[in-house]
Amino acid sequence: MRLIRAENYKDMSRKAANIISAQIILKPDSVIGLATGASPLGAYEQLVRWYQKGDLDFSGVRTVNLDEYLGLGFQCPQSYRRFMYDHLFSQINTEPSNIHIPSGLATDLEAECRRYDAVLRSLGRIDLQLLGLGCNGHIGFNEPEDEFRKGTHIVHLSDSTRKANSRFFDRMEDVPTGAITMGLFDIVQAERVLMVVSGKEKANALKDAFFGPVTPRIPASILQFHANFTLVADTDALSLL
Ligand code: GLP
Repeated sequence: MRLIRAENYKDMSRKAANIISAQIILKPDSVIGLATGASPLGAYEQLVRWYQKGDLDFSGVRTVNLDEYLGLGFQCPQSYRRFMYDHLFSQINTEPSNIHIPSGLATDLEAECRRYDAVLRSLGRIDLQLLGLGCNGHIGFNEPEDEFRKGTHIVHLSDSTRKANSRFFDRMEDVPTGAITMGLFDIVQAERVLMVVSGKEKANALKDAFFGPVTPRIPASILQFHANFTLVADTDALSLL
């Protein structure tokens, strides 16, 4: 693991955006795994600014998103599909056919999981996977379980995850109870993994995930085995180390 210390959220975001943009410059048809949530937002804003200045070209980039809430589609502001269009895709020149996001609206969810696994297979290995970290150590929506889940699957969201994500919804009751998520196989198969972590509320999860035992009860801990894992974390997130 390569640990890059950042002063604060802004510094973390710029460092992460630099790594992502270097990837795209070096390999314009990169497959980039994308995450949602507050953690990658600053990096997306920076990438959009560089695109607007003419420093970045996304026309050849292929993207795969980690996850989506069950029951939420583009019309819903809290859906991850909408998040990605609002904060990134509507502002850069990614080809729509190169954007891949699992659907939480599929009537046959198991078929949707297999479809998404097939999409991942067809794209080949992810060149750079961007991740945030859940307060209970989840990545994507791979929640703490008794085993590491390999492929795309349906999850029942834990109370702690629903509570943490309720800040994006009007009421707790509106937070979906389920989600579809890429499994850990494709995440750990990625050529390079880049995680951004900011804030004191993530300090415990960060310490447990990367400085404790590798266990499916803390899904992110599997990244300790990854040969090219970069963690960009700010002072608050590193405060327990
Ligand atoms: C959600 C997402 C994760 C994200 C996590 C942390 O549960 N599924 O991909 O990493 O929340 O989100 P935030 O960055 O907002 O703290």
